[in-house]
Amino acid sequence: MIHTTVHFLAIETSCDETAAAVFTDEPAILSSVIASQTDLHARFGGVVPEVAARAHLQRLLPIVDEALRNAGVTLDQIGCIAVHHTPGLVGALLVGVSAAKMLAITLDVPLIGVNHVEAHIYAARLAAGRDIFPCVGMVVSGGHTALFHCPSALEFELLGATLDDAAGEAFDKVASILGLGFPGGPAVEREAAGGNARAFKFPRSFLRDSRLDFSFSGLKTAVLYAVHGQNLTEAKPVEAGPRRADLAASFQKAVIDVLVEKARQALLRMGLKRLAVGGGVAANRALRDALEQMTAEAGAELYIPPLTYCTDNAAMAAMAVERWRLGEFAPLDLDAIPAYSTKRRPS
Ligand code: KG4
Ligand code: ZN
Repeated sequence: MIHTTVHFLAIETSCDETAAAVFTDEPAILSSVIASQTDLHARFGGVVPEVAARAHLQRLLPIVDEALRNAGVTLDQIGCIAVHHTPGLVGALLVGVSAAKMLAITLDVPLIGVNHVEAHIYAARLAAGRDIFPCVGMVVSGGHTALFHCPSALEFELLGATLDDAAGEAFDKVASILGLGFPGGPAVEREAAGGNARAFKFPRSFLRDSRLDFSFSGLKTAVLYAVHGQNLTEAKPVEAGPRRADLAASFQKAVIDVLVEKARQALLRMGLKRLAVGGGVAANRALRDALEQMTAEAGAELYIPPLTYCTDNAAMAAMAVERWRLGEFAPLDLDAIPAYSTKRRPS
């Protein structure tokens, strides 16, 4: 039987990146275009939801055009539309979901809704170029920090999650405390490169706990106290220099120690030898190195996407191919759902 390639167009507008991608049903990525809004939000020190939604509205169609052009595919060759419809900022999601529906209606092709958090793990499958399931999946992003048991590409049983801040959120807040600006993750990583990770003893929540949950707010507060004193009496900007680098390095090491240990425990608990990691914080070199070392020692395989597929993008919506194979199409009343909800695996 002759196989005709189906081309997918995917859209991502859940937070502050406007992105579109074209991929085939293999799945193979033909193009991935990302317009970051960092410049628009930097002066506010964080993502402003309404600014994000308006920027998506302005940028989305030109980004879709660019993705099609880069892929060498015309709109009438698109056989399926995929969109991240949950979780995220509702106004931002609505822009992508509305555009995706209109494209699906106009082209008369199926629409597929993709969960953005789960797609972060699928990015590891995409980068591997082959099936990686069953595996333990870990998402470390700005909005989420969670461990999953993933029996297949479409099954995500929650093993544990953060009880307060997400790992990326902690990076962003600590960057702000240290006066390193927005977005915080890459800035803290650069600052930490010149610091001593043992200079400050910061807390590592739940490290020896059997739960696979996380908590980063105590760590953030510990950094705040180390900088400004217990009563915040020394509330002045922390100056560049060895002390700031040591604070960044010690904070980063505390986050990494917990993430790596919980991932190790999850592999053990599930009796699995494959770990797939995704989300913006997975772009952190020190975390990648620590995960490589841990998985090597555990005799496990590590699947982690290249940096551009760790942070937000539309290519990871290639998870839609898995749904498409099963005929799991979304109705045209597909909703934008801001909160992430999932089933916790009974322990
Ligand atoms: O996955 P992502 O792009 O967006 C969400 O879905 O949240 O993740 C963004 C988060 C931000 O908090 C950012 O500071 C963090 O990922 N991040 C990093 C690095 N690059 C991005 N954190 C640590 N080190 C990095 N190199
Ligand atoms: Zn994300």
